[in-house]
Amino acid sequence: MEVKRKAGLVISAVALTGMLLAGCGGKSNSDASSSPSASNSPSASPSASASAPASQAASGGKVEIFSWWTGAGEEAGLKGLIQLFSGKHPEIEVINAAVAGGAGTNAKAVLASRMQGGDPPDAFQVHGGAELNTGWVAADKVIDVNDLYESEGWKDKFPKDLIDLVSKDGKAYSVPVNIHRGNVIFYNKKIFDDNGLKAPTTFDEFFKVADALKAKGITPLALGDKEPWTATMVFENVLLGELGPDDYKKLWNNQLPFDDAKVKKSLETFKKMLGYINQDHAARNWQDAAQLVAKGEAAMNIMGDWAKGYFTTDLKLEANKDFGWVPTPNTTGMFMVITDTFAIPKGAKNESNAKEWLKVLGSVEGQDVFNPLKGSIPARIDADKSKYDVYGQQTIEDFKTAKLAPSMAHGSAAPEGFTTQANQAINIFVTNGDVDQALKALKAAQSSSIQ
Ligand code: GAL
Repeated sequence: MEVKRKAGLVISAVALTGMLLAGCGGKSNSDASSSPSASNSPSASPSASASAPASQAASGGKVEIFSWWTGAGEEAGLKGLIQLFSGKHPEIEVINAAVAGGAGTNAKAVLASRMQGGDPPDAFQVHGGAELNTGWVAADKVIDVNDLYESEGWKDKFPKDLIDLVSKDGKAYSVPVNIHRGNVIFYNKKIFDDNGLKAPTTFDEFFKVADALKAKGITPLALGDKEPWTATMVFENVLLGELGPDDYKKLWNNQLPFDDAKVKKSLETFKKMLGYINQDHAARNWQDAAQLVAKGEAAMNIMGDWAKGYFTTDLKLEANKDFGWVPTPNTTGMFMVITDTFAIPKGAKNESNAKEWLKVLGSVEGQDVFNPLKGSIPARIDADKSKYDVYGQQTIEDFKTAKLAPSMAHGSAAPEGFTTQANQAINIFVTNGDVDQALKALKAAQSSSIQ
């Protein structure tokens, strides 16, 4: 990755707690001292690794797994995990209840109605941070899984800050399977090479490169906002780049109002960027947009690194040969964090089987099956780096030293209510470009959803 880190920006991953939990609203979430500690030594921990034979707890039956991982770029990792699980638990029938739609566009609504209707799945995908804590934990809809952190010896196998992110009042409520990076420009290497261009790392460079591409008749930036969250992702990365990680963090605990001048500036920059997108953006989903870059029909795409999974796993492209990557403008040394975790609803029909599922996805083996396919990095600190390509290895290293920031579009920074309103506001903004209207809508969302 063409990352030139500024010394001043480099801090440890410890920032994750403050960064991410600041957005979780609840005071108890930020009580790091009451979260599972990372003090257990590996040897002191019970050694029930998932590579060991299946636990005796499971005795046949089913397990229904709920996620939004269907289709290209999404399902290969899930299928890998299911295959691994089935090898360990041939007696348990896996029901893959995935609902299509990027970022849970449809799945989240289906999940909510199933939970409300007393028909929960056995385990479900949920982002660490506000989505889990101010959502399902606060509503008392999920069981705590502290027993798994004990039995699997996980307390020192995930970064403590990540455990804090899935914990409330000292109890862990879900198990992270990955960490995705959200602030990435993926670019078509051939286009850049053929035109003698260097991937941009600042806004000024971005606009210079975009102008040069436009002058040659090449679409500079691919966007597919048929599902509005993709535009929200571009915007959140602009926010991070314009505000920096400290002010960005302040948005999520009401220390910085959304009508601040820096947010206004971010909207103006975002609007300028929208001047360089493909005309048919509203008809495309994220894969369709990424494909424009893969095929050389557009130069850049701002997307989470599930796009990298899509490129390498589905489209068989090679990292650093067919496509390159840089952090989005002005975010070098920063890491927009998205973590997929799984939780178990209260009242799940097959709770003990669901726990077996969580054990597999929390194991080194599970993480190293899933993440190379998905484009994400392992959430565990002891995964096998050699299983990851050059993109994955660099991202694993970047994560260790970058300033971490919680994603708004993917549930970590703010409650679901905020994200829904932000998606609406940004969707309208993409169409009408009305900065003041967007500012008002975002401020209203902040006032109504963030404590
Ligand atoms: C995110 C999720 C990723 C990926 C993406 C696109 O919310 O965390 O794993 O699936 O949506 O659907």
